[in-house]
Order: sequence, then structure tokens, then C-alpha cells
Amino acid sequence: MTRERKLQFPEGFLWGTASSAHQCEGDNCNNQWYRWEQQGRTLTGERSGAAANWWQQAERDFELAEQMENNALRLSLEWSRIEPEAGRWDESALERYRVLLRDLRQRHMTPLVTLHHFTDPLWFAERGGFAREENISYFIRFVRFVVAHLRDLCSFWLTINEPNVYAFLGYLTGEFPPGERDVLRALRVLRNLMAAHVQAFYAIRELQPEGQIGYCLNYRPLDPATPWSPLDQAVASLQDRFYNRVALQLAEGQRFPWPLSLALPAVPRAAGARDYHGINYYTRDLVCFDLGRPAELFGRRFPRPGALMQDPGRAGYFGEIYPEGLYRVLHQVYRSTRGNKPLYVTEHGLNDSEDRLRPRAILEHLAMLHRAIREGLPVRGYFHWTLVDNFEWNEGWGAHFGLVELNPQTQERRPRPSASMFGEICRANAITESIVERYAPEAVTTIFGSATALGGRTQVLT
Ligand code: FCB
Repeated sequence: MTRERKLQFPEGFLWGTASSAHQCEGDNCNNQWYRWEQQGRTLTGERSGAAANWWQQAERDFELAEQMENNALRLSLEWSRIEPEAGRWDESALERYRVLLRDLRQRHMTPLVTLHHFTDPLWFAERGGFAREENISYFIRFVRFVVAHLRDLCSFWLTINEPNVYAFLGYLTGEFPPGERDVLRALRVLRNLMAAHVQAFYAIRELQPEGQIGYCLNYRPLDPATPWSPLDQAVASLQDRFYNRVALQLAEGQRFPWPLSLALPAVPRAAGARDYHGINYYTRDLVCFDLGRPAELFGRRFPRPGALMQDPGRAGYFGEIYPEGLYRVLHQVYRSTRGNKPLYVTEHGLNDSEDRLRPRAILEHLAMLHRAIREGLPVRGYFHWTLVDNFEWNEGWGAHFGLVELNPQTQERRPRPSASMFGEICRANAITESIVERYAPEAVTTIFGSATALGGRTQVLT
């Protein structure tokens, strides 16, 4: 008799979903994203409005996560609620977060709390936000306040979500607020965010020595469109350096590449200032040399022709579904940090309103993650973006990343097939052949090597 083939994950592996306050809570009317929406600057002109109504009813979605037997959940605190004016604290907002964290714990889900996920209070944005180094102290004061008040309920913190996305989309391409296009400013913001992470790390460490404190970056492999073309290689590597590598190097205490290092100092005390590295991975691009694109370092990005694609967005494509990219990024981060800390996939997901490709995509990405673990990488958890469809920043309501479908008008929820599949994986702490056969039979071969269970084996990790 053959045993069922499966990819078993290590005991204690964290399974969850990731979300952010502004995208889910609703009626966050005191941050720079709200203002951006009011000014009609999202691509669709849409507004977050009631979002997924988490400020009133997050618990109903936590229940869905509990049914999926998730043992963790990533959410963020909305700074502009807790500190609506500089130095004024709203105890009732804080109490709401205490209720949510308690609720998660009662459901046996470890909360991973993000302290900054793209939104700034208006008063902070008006003072110049993270473009001014002296403003970092406001963020640290907020961090101290919330950690002091929540440390009995949470010990797993993510300081800043995707400094590279916040800096480059807000200050280089102008797609996010404040809509600027200034490369030096973008790099300064990136540097200040990494400095803010480091200072937040030490502040939390002092208040809660046992806390697990990290940050996350968005990683997007950028490959030369024609692998043997020196020009494509050069522009792909240059873009890769700025998008994927500079922030990680700053986090490791290294300098900006020369001559930028003359204008932008390294981040003091950075080396060692994290307990884990968070990895957000969605897709990759091909890059070809293009003289017409000086602002993009002469590289034009596009998805691989013929690739499986996520649903398109307003701004263009959301990208290819490329599971191997996750494996490559895990190795890249492990290598660049000399394997110094555990890794968590703090986001991965896809825009797929019909759930056409999501089951297969989740399975194949997780199989790649499993492969990395098998090879010895310390990957400790996976947070799928996201639990319930939510307000996707500039893309508004047109993007559907949820395991659960949401109708924002009626607030009705409808779990997609992926939700029950993810539940089965979390319950089994494994990808079993039966799960693959039922949800994405086309992936049996990519995951288990051959289409039949003959010679089946269990890959158990210790
Ligand atoms: C990430 C963001 C997250 C969400 C997903 C789709 O870059 O952190 O808020 O927008 O992309």
C-alpha cells in the first residue's frame, strides 16, 4: 500500500492571513490616504469608505480565520486613530485594539501587529512625514505608547511595512501620496524609514525584552528580458539593486552605494536590529534596455510573455504568477543576511476575482517555500494576503486579493474555494496529495513530481 504523498511543514509553523488597518477598518478619516481619496487621486476615484468594516466587526472575519484553523493573523494599528493629534492619545481607539487582540488570542491565533502600514496621521504628513529625519521621533513616541499598552496581548511586532514601496511609490513614481517625483527624496525617505525601524526595534526591545521584532520589504525579482544581452543584464541589475537590495543592505547596517553615500548616511545601530526578516512577495518582471526610460534607469519592465497572469489592474498588470520567485527571494534574503535570523513570508497573494488560479498559485508557492525549508532555510510562517477583499490603495475596489469575497456595498462575504483549501492546509500543517487533487489537479505533477502516487513518499521536516 502506498502512503499518501505530502509536504509536511515543521511543527509550530505559523499559518495566517495579512491585512492592514486602512484597507479593512473603514472610516479612517484622519490620515494622508483618506485625503488622497477625497482629492479623487485614486485611479478609479473610489474611496475606502466603510472598507471591510473591521472597526465595527473585525471579529466576524476573525471567526472565518478561526474556521480555517489559522494559528496566526497579521493586522496593523492605525496610528491616526490612536494619536489623532500630535501628543493626544485616544484611549477608546486603543481599547478597541485590545478587544481585537484578546479576541484573536481566544481563538488561538497569534497576532502579528504591524505598527506602520502605509498610512500617516494628517498632522504627521503635514510636518513632512518621513521625508524629515527629525520626525522619526514622533513615530517612536507612538511605538512606545502602543507597545507599553499592548504588550500583555502581543509580543510579535512588525515595525514598518514595505519601506521600499512607501518610499518609491510615494516619492519617486508619485503613485501614492504625497505624489512626488524626486529620486533623492525617495532615497532619503527609504533611509529614514529604515532608521525608524531600527529605533523602533530598540524601543520595543527595552519595553518587552522577549518580543519578536522585525520589518518587511517587498521583493520583486527583476530578470533581464534577454538573458545574454549585456544591456538588459545591466539595467535589470541596476533596478534590482535599488528596488530589492538597497533597503536590505541598509537594514544590515551597510552604506548606500557611492556616490549616494555622500548625501545619505548609513543607518546607525542597524546591524542586528531585528529578530526576523519579513518577506512580501507577489511577482517578478522582465527588464529590457530602453533609451526612452531615463527615469527608470533605462529599463522597461514587463511580464514574461505567455505567463500565467493575475487579473489586470487599472495601473496595468498585477503580474505573472511565478512560484519559483518566492524560492529565489527566500534564498536571496537568507544569503544577503548570512542566515542570521528566521524568515517569515509576511505577505503573498494574488489579484484573482474568480479564484481561477489562486488555489494552484497558493499550492505551488507553498511547495517552493517547503523546498526552501527542506534545504535548511529557517522559514517559520506564511501569511496570505489577504483574508477578505479590501480597499487596494490606488486600485480601489477593483482588486480582489481575498480568500473570502466581499461585496463592499452590502458587506456580504462569500468564501472562495481557496479559503476552504487554505483551511485544509493549515489543519494538516501539510500539503497533501488529496488537497492538490481536489483543488488544483494540474499541480500534482509540479508539486509531487509525477501524476500518480506510485512510490509515494512523505517529506517530513523536523
Ligand atoms: C502589498 C501591500 C498590501 C497590499 C498588497 C496587495 O504591497 O503591503 O497593503 O496592497 O500589496
